[in-house]
Amino acid sequence: MPAARITRLTESDWEQFAELRLRALTETFGTTDTQYLIEARFTAPDWRRRLRDHAQFVAMLDGRPVGMVAAYQESAQAAYVYSLWLEPAARGHGLARRLVAAAVDWARRRGARTATLRMAPDNSAARTVYESLGFTEVPNCGATGEVVMRLTIP
Ligand SMILES: CC(C)(COP(=O)(O)OP(=O)(O)OC[C@H]1O[C@@H](n2cnc3c(N)ncnc32)[C@H](O)[C@@H]1OP(=O)(O)O)[C@@H](O)C(=O)NCCC(=O)NCCS
Repeated sequence: MPAARITRLTESDWEQFAELRLRALTETFGTTDTQYLIEARFTAPDWRRRLRDHAQFVAMLDGRPVGMVAAYQESAQAAYVYSLWLEPAARGHGLARRLVAAAVDWARRRGARTATLRMAPDNSAARTVYESLGFTEVPNCGATGEVVMRLTIP
């Protein structure tokens, strides 16, 4: 696999972001999913606002985005990481780990002490990625059918 680059999108990348995000939602949940239906109707200002308010990282391969993760600051000391996705052909090459590491680096630079995320309990690939970066499960936390993972940012 050729070398991939992890980069943060800016507002002017909104069209590329919209295409990638809708592709991720389609592949993961399908086009009848509520979240897909909401975001499929986003306007340019909506996509721009998302890129302003949240840090959006993508994995670029041959000049094309093939994966993503997002993060935002929940409070002065706490960041939240979400929306990790790699297109199927790009999986298994360590890109998810690099994406989450970039989000954690971003949180660290902003002064956050923890990074938190949610995942489905049976998502073994995601769990492997998060645990390899030091995330651990927070017991008795989160809604039914989800696991909360947290990292104390080193
Ligand atoms: C989860 C996901 C992002 C992982 O992407 P990826 O690029 O394959 O991840 P990486 O290559 O960085 O690492 C995957 C790790 O999980 C391991 N892994 C892969 N499938 C696995 C499985 N079924 N069970 C256990 N471990 C698994 C790999 O061996 C690798 O570990 P290693 O680096 O120690 O060898 C990707 O599968 C995906 O996009 N899934 C759909 C969306 C999703 O589930 N997102 C997470 C939401 S919380």
